[in-house]
Amino acid sequence: MVRGPGSAVKLMGVAKRYADVVAVDYVDLDVKEGEIFGLLGPNGSGKSTLLKMILGLVEPDSGSVNVLGINAEENPVAIKAQVGYVPEVPRLYEFLTGIEYLDFTADLYDVSPAEKRERINEYLEALELEGREGDMISAYSLGMKQKTALISAFVHKPKLLLLDEPLGGLDPRSARIIKDLLRELASKGVTTIMSTHILEIAQAMCDRIAIMYEGRLLAIGNMEELREKARLPGSNLEEIFLTLTGTSDIRGVVEALMK
Ligand SMILES: Nc1ncnc2c1ncn2[C@@H]1O[C@H](COP(=O)(O)OP(=O)(O)OP(=O)(O)O)[C@@H](O)[C@H]1O
Ligand SMILES: [Mg+2]
Repeated sequence: MVRGPGSAVKLMGVAKRYADVVAVDYVDLDVKEGEIFGLLGPNGSGKSTLLKMILGLVEPDSGSVNVLGINAEENPVAIKAQVGYVPEVPRLYEFLTGIEYLDFTADLYDVSPAEKRERINEYLEALELEGREGDMISAYSLGMKQKTALISAFVHKPKLLLLDEPLGGLDPRSARIIKDLLRELASKGVTTIMSTHILEIAQAMCDRIAIMYEGRLLAIGNMEELREKARLPGSNLEEIFLTLTGTSDIRGVVEALMK
């Protein structure tokens, strides 16, 4: 029997609430090794909280989190060592230069000096940050900060990437480089789970997509399966998203605003 890819991330009954707010509502999820998995959902639907629970930054109230075959409760540090994470608002040390920050993160992950130098230089060049790596991060533009955060997530060759809105702020060329890079990494078995509001990106990049709403996964699948679920044959992701999340009455909302 041919064995298919194993699970990179397996969530069972994972839930998190903050006071009266249910951020994540008993989610089951199985993301396979080498998959690029997209998380879509309206603001406040629980995407970032879910990513943080996979990484172990937020402890679930209930349920189990298994990442790369490791139980998150038993060995959270082993998981963090193999994951690259870009939060939705990266908090970089603004008083460091770009290269100091990247050096520092690579050292945290024990990347050897030679590998570190080579990899960082390649990424700086690919993302057109070369020549600016000696500047203070506080003097970087939004996109430059985002690129620095991405490089710091890639530098230790993680097996799993958790990217919260990774392409926001990037120019089209840089976004394309990151997209191609994620595809290349996926072919080598690296798994990516990313949240995005840019539906074209999700549609073009992701093997499977989950649509999240009020903490639950309303639908999971490839485009074909999502179309079926939404009963919208031939539709694009925007139509599916708006239908499944019950937010398709855009016209009515705009008309009310114009009164
Ligand atoms: N630290 C926190 N304390 C209190 N409530 C929180 C906290 N983190 C998240 N929440 C709440 O949990 C819900 C889900 O938030 P989350 O950030 O996961 O949403 P999201 O899907 O990432 O939204 P967005 O698209 O705006 O990034 C929201 O109602 C939010 O207010
Ligand atoms: Mg978020």
